[in-house]
Amino acid sequence: MSDAAESGRIPQEVVTRLSEAQRVAVLTGAGVSAESGIPTFRGKAGLWKNHRPEQLATPQAFRSDPALVWEWYHWRRGLVRQADPNPAHSALAEMENRIPHFVLITQNVDGLHMRAGSGNVLEMHGNINRARCCSCDNRIQLTDESGVLDCARCGSLMRPDIVWFGESLDPDILAQSYRAAGTADVFVVAGTSSVVQPAASLAFSVKEAGGFVLEINLDPTPLTGAADITVLGKAGEVLPELVKRMWENQTPGSLFQPDR
Ligand code: OAD
Ligand code: ZN
Repeated sequence: MSDAAESGRIPQEVVTRLSEAQRVAVLTGAGVSAESGIPTFRGKAGLWKNHRPEQLATPQAFRSDPALVWEWYHWRRGLVRQADPNPAHSALAEMENRIPHFVLITQNVDGLHMRAGSGNVLEMHGNINRARCCSCDNRIQLTDESGVLDCARCGSLMRPDIVWFGESLDPDILAQSYRAAGTADVFVVAGTSSVVQPAASLAFSVKEAGGFVLEINLDPTPLTGAADITVLGKAGEVLPELVKRMWENQTPGSLFQPDR
């Protein structure tokens, strides 16, 4: 059970566990990019021209109005291009350097973790800077495109390379995510409402397997009751503080020493 959601305060137990961990997996959601100015999906900020993301991010929406769905993604891609990684992204990139086996699983499609320097990233929901053909296996990197795009190879409609509601995730990425979560000494869940499956089930599977779950979110979520510790606060403040304390906590014996 959760040690009660703690406002801003990071319990020493968390710092100690992370400092000693050999394997850490992290799951991030839209809240981690919120401080970069990218709107989250749920809550008021998620609305776009009175449409809810759940009404736009579906194969049905794309079939009935591809121009509308592309317009939304082009708009979001514009926001992403103007945005920079924030201290939450940087802290996770730094954490990766400290932990022997580190996997960053993200639901975010904005690519900001890679831009902040994270290397081992599993993008569960795709990437907004790519499009793929509805018919053949053509994938392209998007730059200045607008409007509806046609495939240069087969002429079919191109679509955002995003996993939409009702679609399956890439089975390899899903398997790697479950493996990383299931073998982690600490599983960190940051900035996600923990309501979209299968991502939300990762933390619950960790708990079932007896693992340790740390949640970081502005507000309590459906995971809060099950997480070992929930720290309530901004990801861009809590994560840098956590990484700083991990360094302070380092004893000479725990220093990473390269083989000579
Ligand atoms: P949501 O928009 O559902 O949730 C964002 C979460 O971040 C909420 O729980 C907020 O309380 C929290 N939050 C907001 N700002 C924060 C901050 N500065 N620091 C910490 N937490 C903060 O986003 P996701 O959970 O990522 O799918 O949504 C999951 C999926 O649903 C998305 O990947 C997307 C969407 O439909 C696709 O695009 C396929
Ligand atoms: Zn094609």
